[in-house]
Amino acid sequence: MPFTLSAILLSFLGASSATAATVYLAGDSTMAKTSGGSNTQGWGEYLLYSLPSSYVVSNKAIGGRSARSFTREGRFQAIANVVQSGDWVVVEFGHNDGGSLTPTDNGRTDCFGDGAQTCNTVYNGVAETVLTYPAYYKNAAKLFLDKGAKVILSSATPNNICETGTCVWGPSRFDYYAWLATSQLGGTSAGVYHVAHGQYAAQAMKALGTTTVNAHYPNDHTHTDAYMANVMAASFVLGLKCGTSALGAAVKNSTASLTVTYLGPCIAFNGTIPI
Ligand SMILES: *[C@@H]1O[C@H](CO)[C@@H](O)[C@H](O)[C@H]1NC(C)=O
Ligand SMILES: *[C@@H]1O[C@H](CO)[C@@H](O)[C@H](O)[C@H]1NC(C)=O
Repeated sequence: MPFTLSAILLSFLGASSATAATVYLAGDSTMAKTSGGSNTQGWGEYLLYSLPSSYVVSNKAIGGRSARSFTREGRFQAIANVVQSGDWVVVEFGHNDGGSLTPTDNGRTDCFGDGAQTCNTVYNGVAETVLTYPAYYKNAAKLFLDKGAKVILSSATPNNICETGTCVWGPSRFDYYAWLATSQLGGTSAGVYHVAHGQYAAQAMKALGTTTVNAHYPNDHTHTDAYMANVMAASFVLGLKCGTSALGAAVKNSTASLTVTYLGPCIAFNGTIPI
């Protein structure tokens, strides 16, 4: 009997130290490692501290990308090629998705619209049919769902909302589109979850105040230092925790321990953004 018990115990300990799931991160420089300059950091580098040690975070974010260019360069497909059933993929774009396709297409701007609209362009000498931001989000999510992974469709972190001396935030159309894509895919019942990261990050920045926030954007109003990247990661973690995903449930920290801080309360996001 003691032998059997220790064998069971050993196999239990073995299982608990194995990888529970890998969380892949797809995004731009605000999520990537130091791609806004060596004195900056992306928030994706800090997510692992709020998850049990059995989770691996694989940060595939890369500077300068939009949902469109991440798609065209095959970067969503590369994640789909390695993602396993039970893994997670966080998709967060928006900083490089705006702008106009004319007169010069920068290769990143999405077609304007909330649905199946398309735009024809020539980028780098190659004809391209450009889709909308929610279309790129939905296509990416389907690649991962097909592999048995679950997907978090997140809105982008805002730029520094306190740079004028007062902290002011309003949602961009991309904040709405990220929610819309989640909803159109079927949400929780389909294994697709939304994090209103823009809104949670803005709430945290307002609570920290102008002096603190401005001190942690060392180069420009987009790229944060390590302190502010951790704030962005924490605001994402709260959004995750306040949602319905199993990844949120796996977060080590209690909701109460997060909401008593500058991060503030859970936000009921339903497509009409309360500010
Ligand atoms: C959650 O708790 C861990 C310590 O267990 C800490 O390192 C991490 O920063 C916390 N996360 C947040 C978002 O506060
Ligand atoms: C969203 O929530 C707000 C209050 O938080 C409510 O006034 C509004 O009717 C809701 N909209 C939808 C579409 O459920």
